[in-house]
Amino acid sequence: MNIQTRLNTYTPAAHAMDSLPRTEQEQKPVPPSEDGKFTIDDIICPFQRVAYNEGVLKVDENGNATNLPEVLKEYAGAGWGLTKVANHAAKRLSTDGSHWQALWADSYNLQDLEGSSLDHKADTQILRGGFNQERLDKALSFSSDGERLTLEDLRRFQKSNLEEEPGRHGEIFGAAELALLVKVFGRTDGTGTKFISNKDFTTIFKDNKWPEGWEPPKAGSTNFLTVAQSVNEYFSMDDKIGEAKEAVASEAAPAKGSAKQACPFLSGQPFDLAEAAKQHSDRLE
Ligand code: HEM
Repeated sequence: MNIQTRLNTYTPAAHAMDSLPRTEQEQKPVPPSEDGKFTIDDIICPFQRVAYNEGVLKVDENGNATNLPEVLKEYAGAGWGLTKVANHAAKRLSTDGSHWQALWADSYNLQDLEGSSLDHKADTQILRGGFNQERLDKALSFSSDGERLTLEDLRRFQKSNLEEEPGRHGEIFGAAELALLVKVFGRTDGTGTKFISNKDFTTIFKDNKWPEGWEPPKAGSTNFLTVAQSVNEYFSMDDKIGEAKEAVASEAAPAKGSAKQACPFLSGQPFDLAEAAKQHSDRLE
């Protein structure tokens, strides 16, 4: 019907308009998120991006996703309640935001993730506006052993992102996402340290694939309680980071009255040998 209307309005005069130079505004390339066409770069959530790329999240050519609940259950081990809430939240992004409309919607559009109420600052920026290698490198540079990103490494990384883009909203949402990432794709070592390997992190964010040898969490194991525990554990890394900072600070500026603080030699400062001999004369006798 639309095509017919367009054909009818095609006149030589209108055609002549086509050859006129376009304004600067018209010539500007339209960002992928605004051109109305769905591509993988519209998906700013790594989990959904991988699920789409692996063909398990059913998405039509316009970006409408229809089976998030099944994907969350099967690939994130999401329990019934969490699945319902997440699916409802997703559908609200593609309606007018009302609960009523979302209740009746049978899909949501992946193009609506960006700029939504779930979109926030201080994210990793790896998938912002398409995949970004520099930001991936930045993330991996926080790995303390060069092999894996522990919860503590991720928290340090997030803190650095928060310095670039401060804000409590970004901090809370980002914390929940990173904690969830480790919960779904991570492992625990012999000392109880939770981590995601650098390799798996890259496979997810760059290759948009499930990590090699990865097995989805057990059905129902990702629920409100366990997610809350994961987020709590993630934030508890602040204690470790704080302790580490204190240790470094006490190395550099030892407590008042301590030998290090009193003696320039022990704290690595230049000193005068004669003055040192005078100061230590009692011990030299
Ligand atoms: C268990 C499944 C999920 C996992 C493991 C997961 C993980 C993540 C992670 C790690 C990020 C941060 C990306 C970054 O900072 O670059 C993220 C971002 C995001 N996720 Fe998910 N996600 C999951 C499910 C969902 C669901 C169900 C939705 C709802 C539609 C969603 C919506 C978003 C959005 C909108 C962002 C972008 C936030 C931003 O960068 O501002 N995610 N997700």
